[in-house]
Amino acid sequence: MTPQTNLVVFEHPLIQHKLTYLRERSTSSRAFRALMAQIAGLMVYEVTRAFPHDPVEIDTPLETMTGTRLRGTITVVPVLRAGLGMAEGVLDIMPEARVGHLGLARDERTLQPRAYLNKLPRDLDAGPVILVDPMLATGGSAAAALGMLRDAGARDLRLMCVVAAPEGIARIRQTEPDLVIYAAALDQSLNERGFIVPGLGDAGDRLYGTV
Ligand code: PRP
Repeated sequence: MTPQTNLVVFEHPLIQHKLTYLRERSTSSRAFRALMAQIAGLMVYEVTRAFPHDPVEIDTPLETMTGTRLRGTITVVPVLRAGLGMAEGVLDIMPEARVGHLGLARDERTLQPRAYLNKLPRDLDAGPVILVDPMLATGGSAAAALGMLRDAGARDLRLMCVVAAPEGIARIRQTEPDLVIYAAALDQSLNERGFIVPGLGDAGDRLYGTV
């Protein structure tokens, strides 16, 4: 972790291997969905390392011992649409987590996000909350989503994305200086259309074949 920025970039070769296929133009929607879920699953394994946990006494068939249980209720919040592709992989690893949904669409011209859905559990402060969105471009969508989560009561919060641009990280830092951001890659920059380069294209379109 880089202490100054609370940014964790995964350099694990298996994640990078899958990310490289994800980026490739020739990767089909079907493969793209599978890779996105697998990368999110691998990332959440590391993200949960920092989760609060408690010792718990259990009986094995042979004797009593002290095991470990994660504390509180974990909530995964995908930003629609593309975040759904990551949430699936997180739930494969952590099926006990619950899911809140935030719908945000970025205007292609102004690059401003427009919220169209907010369906969150009432007690968001009941445990850790992971916001998932594969792309952190200008950071406008993630900043809006984080604001919605804070308004809804989230306290223990972190952001997980696949590809981040420096502009997006800087945008989040304006309102959330201490939030830990997890990314599979920190890319070079944004192009004139607000796309991350080299990036992986439009994640929502590639996931759902709407290119
Ligand atoms: C994309 C992406 C992020 C957002 C990133 O979603 O999945 O949510 O844009 O851009 P930003 O950091 O500049 O806000 P989009 O609005 O295209 O919607 P979609 O997932 O439904 O395709």
